[in-house]
Amino acid sequence: MRRYIRALILCMVFAVFSGLYVYNKPFYSDVSVGGNGAKRGPVPPRDPGARRGAAARNGDQNPPHWDNRIAVRQAGQMEAAGRGVGGRPEPPMHLAVVACGERLEETVTMIKSAVLFSIKRLHLHIFAEDQLHAGFMETLESWTGFVRSKFNYTVHPISFPSDNAAEWKKLFKPCASQRLFLPLILKDVDSIVYVDSDILFLQSVDHLWAFLSRFKPSQLAAMAPEHEEPRIAWYSRFARHPFYGPTGVNSGVMLMNLTRMRRAFFRNDMTPVGLRWEELLMPLLQKYKLNITWGDQDLLNIIFHHNPELLMEFPCKWNYRPDHCIYGSNCASAEEDGVYILHGNRGVYHDNKQPAFRAVYQAIRKYAFGADPVSALLDPLEEDLLKTTHTYCGKSHGLFTKTLTRSLALVSGEAAGRR
Ligand SMILES: *[C@@H]1O[C@H](CO)[C@@H](O)[C@H](O)[C@H]1NC(C)=O
Ligand SMILES: *[C@@H]1O[C@H](CO)[C@@H](O)[C@H](O)[C@H]1NC(C)=O
Ligand SMILES: *[C@@H]1O[C@H](CO)[C@@H](O)[C@H](O)[C@H]1NC(C)=O
Repeated sequence: MRRYIRALILCMVFAVFSGLYVYNKPFYSDVSVGGNGAKRGPVPPRDPGARRGAAARNGDQNPPHWDNRIAVRQAGQMEAAGRGVGGRPEPPMHLAVVACGERLEETVTMIKSAVLFSIKRLHLHIFAEDQLHAGFMETLESWTGFVRSKFNYTVHPISFPSDNAAEWKKLFKPCASQRLFLPLILKDVDSIVYVDSDILFLQSVDHLWAFLSRFKPSQLAAMAPEHEEPRIAWYSRFARHPFYGPTGVNSGVMLMNLTRMRRAFFRNDMTPVGLRWEELLMPLLQKYKLNITWGDQDLLNIIFHHNPELLMEFPCKWNYRPDHCIYGSNCASAEEDGVYILHGNRGVYHDNKQPAFRAVYQAIRKYAFGADPVSALLDPLEEDLLKTTHTYCGKSHGLFTKTLTRSLALVSGEAAGRR
């Protein structure tokens, strides 16, 4: 009899453990949706032939789910990161980026800077050409422990919304215009931070994210001016289309309340009635395609020229580019508080034209999670920046490290707290 009872207890213990296992399973699993057996292959951007290939692959023949090869990976750990009051997880911040061509390493470095400093949980939306998908997954999966518990990610193919996909493809270069379609593609996402791949966060994404809750009821997006000085700004001198404000806006860092973008009617110079986002893009491009230089950024400028009350402008320290220091410092907010977000446009992370920008990029690229951020990132960076003081941007190197020093001290404390 006693033996029976012992066996029964053993069974119950097993049952409890397998119950726990099943319960935990969803949190630890990788979910891969779809997989229609379509071939993957390198797709050079801007090649009309290849675009037709992409059309076939992205599945005109496979409706209704145009995004059927999305792979979703979930964080392995269920750590307390981003828990709201009462243990309920707060909704994550959403960060979107488009990566094409040779941009894998640059994009990964941007993501590293975002993950390193962020406080709330992050959901990354990486829109990438097919041949880059494996590289992203490998890299992100190689980050482990506490860092990995701070984010989830989705790798999306470059694609268009299924309605009118063929028509879209004829008009838009997929990589250059992907961001314009985010309100239609990320249908279940309320708001996102969109950044170009050549962005580096020098402080937490959370600070930028906080602008969203400060939008006036009319506002649905936020960007920084393209330039501080209309007399030498590009748009005011060269643009052959309308643009926002005195200098235009730069779209490298953009906050979007997608819910509002999906609901709004946009004034325009094509019809007297307001058009919805998805009705607006195509006619706008038709009208201006011969006059635009910077792709989707120009279209955004045209849209917000006609709808200025929909846009919040944030100061240049949130989108600091070589233009802000190349002939002397002209970004007052960065002078005051330091650079919050660095934007190495025109390829300055990869050539020697602006060595100060390159130095910051290299420091973050080389940093390995887990190493002490001060001795492994900040110290070598400060040393490198001292070698750049023959350039105007290098002379302003204090602006580059001011915020970073603060952010890294916080991360350093966080790391020490877990030891
Ligand atoms: C990742 O996704 C899982 C499942 O949806 C969720 O439980 C977890 O909290 C998420 N982690 C982060 C960091 O967002
Ligand atoms: C975006 O706008 C919607 C509709 O006004 C609002 O409910 C939501 O809270 C806003 N999102 C954020 C992050 O502020
Ligand atoms: C395009 O640029 C030309 C030359 O500057 C100008 O005459 C024309 O009106 C522009 N087109 C539009 C749609 O603004």
